[in-house]
Amino acid sequence: MVTVKRFRGRAVLRVLGLAAGLALIAFAADHLGFGRTEVAVITVVGGLLSALAIELPWKGFLFPGDALLVCLCLLTASNRIVLLALGAALVSGSLAISFGRTTLVAAFRNAIASLAAVAIWRLLVPSLDILLDGGRSFRLTGNTFGNWLVTAEAIPALLLASLAFVVGATVTESLLRGRREYAFGEFWFLNAGRNLHHLIFTAVLGSIAAVAYRDTGAVAFVFFTFPVILTRDALKRSLELRASRFQALKALSSSVDARDRYTYDHSNRVSRLATMLAREMGFPESMVELIEGGALLHDIGKLSVDIDILSKPGSLDAEERAVIEQHPLDSAEVVSRVDLLKESTEIVRHHHERPDGRGYPGGLKGHEIPVGARILNVADAFDAMISDRPYRKRKSVEEALDELKRGAGDEFDPVVVEYLTRLVAEKREEIVGSKDS
Ligand SMILES: [Fe+2]
Ligand SMILES: [Fe+2]
Repeated sequence: MVTVKRFRGRAVLRVLGLAAGLALIAFAADHLGFGRTEVAVITVVGGLLSALAIELPWKGFLFPGDALLVCLCLLTASNRIVLLALGAALVSGSLAISFGRTTLVAAFRNAIASLAAVAIWRLLVPSLDILLDGGRSFRLTGNTFGNWLVTAEAIPALLLASLAFVVGATVTESLLRGRREYAFGEFWFLNAGRNLHHLIFTAVLGSIAAVAYRDTGAVAFVFFTFPVILTRDALKRSLELRASRFQALKALSSSVDARDRYTYDHSNRVSRLATMLAREMGFPESMVELIEGGALLHDIGKLSVDIDILSKPGSLDAEERAVIEQHPLDSAEVVSRVDLLKESTEIVRHHHERPDGRGYPGGLKGHEIPVGARILNVADAFDAMISDRPYRKRKSVEEALDELKRGAGDEFDPVVVEYLTRLVAEKREEIVGSKDS
């Protein structure tokens, strides 16, 4: 009963957020000097586009709402665009999984990005007097500015202002979502692929819409919504295909684990846990997916290890250890040949490295070890500890966490261990499930 009430409460909050977002967009469009019909179009199209996130099969997302925001920054050159940006953030946040947090991040991100775009645009437009009429409204069509907009000279300005938007958005988002140790450098780097697509999409679409507005008015925004929706549907199909290929990988990984009763379902569990950790640590979905895929086949190299060595109860001699230590290299070799997974190769290759440099196969230290491998390493070790192995009985969850903490810094990445501890405290059932006895 309580759950139902809480669910309804949240739903009401979301509907209110959505309504407030749309109202804010309309209010802002009115104050930016658009006519009544234009306000209506901007509200509907703005609401719709802000609600869409186009998932890309290769990396991350495109946010078509951003293209409209960029376009409006260009058209108005006004800081009042911030209100509209906040409205768009409310709309997108109301539909997101974690309503409060997403809205807050989106609000900051949109506001900073719009202000950055307006600031650069104001610097680059030859004369603001042409653009702004009395500081409140703007008259674009048919004047000198409108004509300037379609000249070659305007292109760099259009693109630079859009670039300012995307950079503003990504920097703010990285700072708010990224976490301490991984925060800036790594986060930014990992986001680079996504930023590039987003940049091109936002800049080009935003600029084209601004130019189209010169001749057709706000109807231009309606036109550019159709290709956006078509693209989204096409990409959704291709993602579904990708998901089915992932299913095939899962089946393959289960057959590797099934070779030996001790590792039954190990790779699937490790993959699930590593994925949760990467998300919790604030990494972008593109990175999460690399870890997920890599984890599924991280031990596939063990297929060439003799089953007697794998299930030997006592300790291993030097030769046997060398055979075992070959497995990350063999796994990496396999992964590098699978198109869907080849970007996970380094994660797989280094999943047995240790921060103190005493791991294998590379003897890499600390941050030399790819962050995905550090995450996979902790997830792998935790799952092994709470499972029975031929040479020892399984540990309790608490014992395993204590052991990880003792090894943090030498054997395991301390930040990942910290996140795992927190994750287990929050989602114990989901992580440990039936093993928790
Ligand atoms: Fe391994
Ligand atoms: Fe493993």
